[in-house]
Amino acid sequence: MSTTSWIDAAAVDDLPADDVLGLEVEGRDLALCSVNGEVFVTSNTCTHGQARLCDGFLEGHEIECPLHQGKFDVRTGKATCAPVTEDLRTYPVKIEGGRVYVAIGD
Ligand code: FES
Repeated sequence: MSTTSWIDAAAVDDLPADDVLGLEVEGRDLALCSVNGEVFVTSNTCTHGQARLCDGFLEGHEIECPLHQGKFDVRTGKATCAPVTEDLRTYPVKIEGGRVYVAIGD
């Protein structure tokens, strides 16, 4: 049986509302996205090239890559707009005591 190991990544108050924050957590570059008070965490590196998604735009649940404007759904990591075809990795999130915890996994 595996147990989830939660990493304290940030304070909820540090996340800009309806925007994205790029953060290194346990050596991973992550994008913390705040959408309507909910928090979603994905890899911060576009699957199409070496672009950091935190430098792009978050509109609703879609994040747009700053380099070629590919888009991903931050809830599922699904690639939603060309030229991206490979989905983003997403990470489980929980909010507790005003802190954002992320399960990094393997
Ligand atoms: S690097 Fe992100 S769409 Fe090309």
